[in-house]
Amino acid sequence: MFDYQAPADLLNNRTVLVSGAGAGIGKAAAKAYAAHGATVILAGRTTKKLEEVYDEIEAAGHPQPAIFPINLEGATPHDYEALAATIENEFGRLDGLLNNAGTLGVRTPIENYDPAIWDQVIQVNLNAQFYLTQAMIPLLRVSEDASIIFTGSGVSQVGKAYWGAYSVSKFANEGLMQILADELESTSNIRVNSINPGATRTNMRATAYPGENPNTLATPEEIMPVYLYLMGPDSKGTNGQALKAQ
Ligand SMILES: NC(=O)c1ccc[n+]([C@@H]2O[C@H](COP(=O)([O-])OP(=O)(O)OC[C@H]3O[C@@H](n4cnc5c(N)ncnc54)[C@H](OP(=O)(O)O)[C@@H]3O)[C@@H](O)[C@H]2O)c1
Repeated sequence: MFDYQAPADLLNNRTVLVSGAGAGIGKAAAKAYAAHGATVILAGRTTKKLEEVYDEIEAAGHPQPAIFPINLEGATPHDYEALAATIENEFGRLDGLLNNAGTLGVRTPIENYDPAIWDQVIQVNLNAQFYLTQAMIPLLRVSEDASIIFTGSGVSQVGKAYWGAYSVSKFANEGLMQILADELESTSNIRVNSINPGATRTNMRATAYPGENPNTLATPEEIMPVYLYLMGPDSKGTNGQALKAQ
């Protein structure tokens, strides 16, 4: 496991947006960021799940979060601009963006891959990451120390049979991360990196590997050290890197 012990006040006075904050790794990250002092903007598809995370953060006495329901499949650049305007009005800036939301699609040979599912996966896992990130850059530029994190995978650097659009979208996320890291390095206080969570006990993993015993896998909470490290100031100077959580 990535070895890092975050100080309790790591993210004090920082505002951080987490996509896919209602479940799995995104939920754990939102709660971990709040527990370390951040005001977290919970973005995701299912409002009820976001409300549950909101309640858990509030009940724990951490900074009051905000909720922004958004379906990455149907959202247009206009929706991301609306989100940026809301954040600007409420907080004036953004200190961190975790691009975490993702969808698996189907595991099948390219020969058989349904083009409609291909388009859906590329929309959610790639196009939406671009739209969201592009809309947030002006707010991240206002921060004195900002971090963008993309989410990689075991199939984001090596192509493997049957991973189809999911793998292609994850390769593209690594490319987007590297391009942005290079572009922003000399003109901003924004660092850009990616995390490969590794096999983690979530719904997506169970869908991809239905025969696997989930109790053999790391929990989302256990992989949080790298998520905290890259979001906080201890990772200043780390840019354009693909880190592994496990
Ligand atoms: N778990 C692993 O072993 C593993 C390994 C490598 C990479 N990853 C990556 O880690 C990230 C988190 O995955 P996870 O395992 O935590 O999966 P998960 O439990 O399925 O959670 C995925 C999250 O993304 C949200 N989401 C999906 N489609 C969306 C859409 N159209 N609009 C808005 N939000 C949407 C989901 O919202 P709802 O709950 O409302 O549907 C959920 O909050 C993903 O990028 C995944 O590719 C996971």
